[in-house]
Amino acid sequence: MYYSQEIIEEVMQKNDIVDVISQRVRLKKNGSNHMGLCPFHNEKSPSFSVSRTKQMYHCFGCGVGGNVYTFVMEYENYSFVEALKLLADRVGVTLPEAEYTPEQKRQLNTKQQLLEINKKAAIFYYSQLFGPSGANALGYLKGRQLSEEVIKRFGLGYSDISGKNLYKYLRNEGYSDEILKISGLFTFDEKKGAYDKFWNRVMFPIMDVNSKVIGFGGRVMSDAKPKYLNSPETILFDKSRNLFGMNIARTSRSKNIIICEGYMDVISLHQAGFNNAVASLGTALTGLQAALIKRYTEDVILCYDSDEAGTKAAMRAIPILKEAGLTTRVIDLRPYKDPDEFIKELGREEFEKRLDNARTSFNFEMEIIEKNYDLQDPESKTKFINDMAKKMLEFGQEVERNVYAQAVAQKYGIAIKDFQGLVNHYGAIMMSGGKNSIDNIETNSVKHNKKKEKVSTEDAVKKSQRLLLTWMVDDTSLMHKLKEFITPKDFKDVIYNKAAHMLFEQYETEGKVFPASIINAFELKEEQTMVAALFNTDLESELRVMLGLDTDDEIMNSLQKERAINQIVKRIKTYSIEYDLRTCGDIMMIQECYKNKAKLEKMHISL
Ligand code: UTP
Ligand code: MN
Repeated sequence: MYYSQEIIEEVMQKNDIVDVISQRVRLKKNGSNHMGLCPFHNEKSPSFSVSRTKQMYHCFGCGVGGNVYTFVMEYENYSFVEALKLLADRVGVTLPEAEYTPEQKRQLNTKQQLLEINKKAAIFYYSQLFGPSGANALGYLKGRQLSEEVIKRFGLGYSDISGKNLYKYLRNEGYSDEILKISGLFTFDEKKGAYDKFWNRVMFPIMDVNSKVIGFGGRVMSDAKPKYLNSPETILFDKSRNLFGMNIARTSRSKNIIICEGYMDVISLHQAGFNNAVASLGTALTGLQAALIKRYTEDVILCYDSDEAGTKAAMRAIPILKEAGLTTRVIDLRPYKDPDEFIKELGREEFEKRLDNARTSFNFEMEIIEKNYDLQDPESKTKFINDMAKKMLEFGQEVERNVYAQAVAQKYGIAIKDFQGLVNHYGAIMMSGGKNSIDNIETNSVKHNKKKEKVSTEDAVKKSQRLLLTWMVDDTSLMHKLKEFITPKDFKDVIYNKAAHMLFEQYETEGKVFPASIINAFELKEEQTMVAALFNTDLESELRVMLGLDTDDEIMNSLQKERAINQIVKRIKTYSIEYDLRTCGDIMMIQECYKNKAKLEKMHISL
């Protein structure tokens, strides 16, 4: 930390989270919480909850959460220090001069400097596009029918023909060769020295979801190869977890996201009013990108090129999207090659129609598989039907499998009974483990389901732990009552453990808890979100589910609550003891475990 823990705490305590968020999001009081529309994902009914007592926020829709610092960082797209400054300013606290060690300075600096370098480079390219050397490039973009407005919206630019100017400019701005070397924007040659990686190309800045420039794609204006040159991956630029256009698409408030292949496709679609278009960065779609999309929507439309490569890419993307829990449809652009070309030829309304008519991913897959067979030939058709029956096993749910089986049987004129029989036949072979007799019958989704079963106890325990942590924060008297049964050691996950440890320590030393401060002890955004979630479970409704109560049942009585807390503690403790027995080799520890087990049998917590 560059500022003392005391000053960070002081600024936090003076900035009430409900006041700070209310200045940016409309909140309505609802019980002990304030609710509003989540500013971090697209939603129509409020699931964003802010708690004055906990000084935390949490979205039940997309899972984000944190304290007043993380909110300002996310909302304003600020670094921690920037958020601290804003909040200190807001309440009139004067910050002391920050002191940092050379090592801390270097770490902070590298990322910060790379962000600055990328931003400066983007502005540099942009001004070249509109300067005297950029006439050709600007002409090229206009020739591709991009409006000046959209060129500006995407911050397009031009790297001029000199091949040295960006380097000179950034050196002049005081950046060392050391940092420029890892920016990915230059080539360092022993003999020729340093020169710009991009020259005489139209530049497409690549931004993360917070609109920070993290890399570039550059296109030649002729038929030269390679057509696009991209920044290499750097500590800022991870191609597998970013999508071109996502910074705009995430705020588009449309019900789905359109995934296409290229930079130009995204830009054309946005120009035509489809602000929800994104593209992966010249690489195949990844699970991380699918998870990123899932933060904003459930529905995806694949809009890949209509050539063979595009079709293959779609076939590869479908299972990845499905795995992430997204529903996918596939658009048909034929006879045009890509959305850019399509829009140019037929315009936005025709594109809209194609969107409406997009096939489900299943129909698309079926159509593609069908092409490998001659359905007029009985032998070939039989093979095809068998392949489809195997494919049915990808659907983990029986209902789903039956619905699709019906559709296939109908489409290809087979009696549903026969087809169903075939599906069951392959299902039985799979269950008996004879997977070698059928090529690849154990498909990805089936494997996935098996994996899921294994981790489910651990998931259930973690859920109980979250409920308990939330409960203890809501009612600290519980901490006293549970001391004898539950300690931070019972939380086996590293993050859960650290959070529980701090919570118990706060209670011990201060007699009170400050869950919002705990978040400050975690550095990564993912960790902060996770910790916020620990203290913000929807306790009331989770307990109802646990106890099997109707949702509109009257308030839980104390006996029911008592039953719930005993159940929760028992589950956590049982898992903890079993975990210790599995992992420890020390005889004393083992005896301790058995003692605890006996104690647990007799445990009863009264509220
Ligand atoms: P396309 O060749 O379909 O590009 O490649 P495009 O976006 O339609 O480009 P225009 O219309 O010809 O200008 C799709 C994507 O694949 C990556 C880029 O991300 C591109 O947008 N790509 C393509 C490269 O990274 N390098 C290449 O040489 C070609
Ligand atoms: Mn194109």
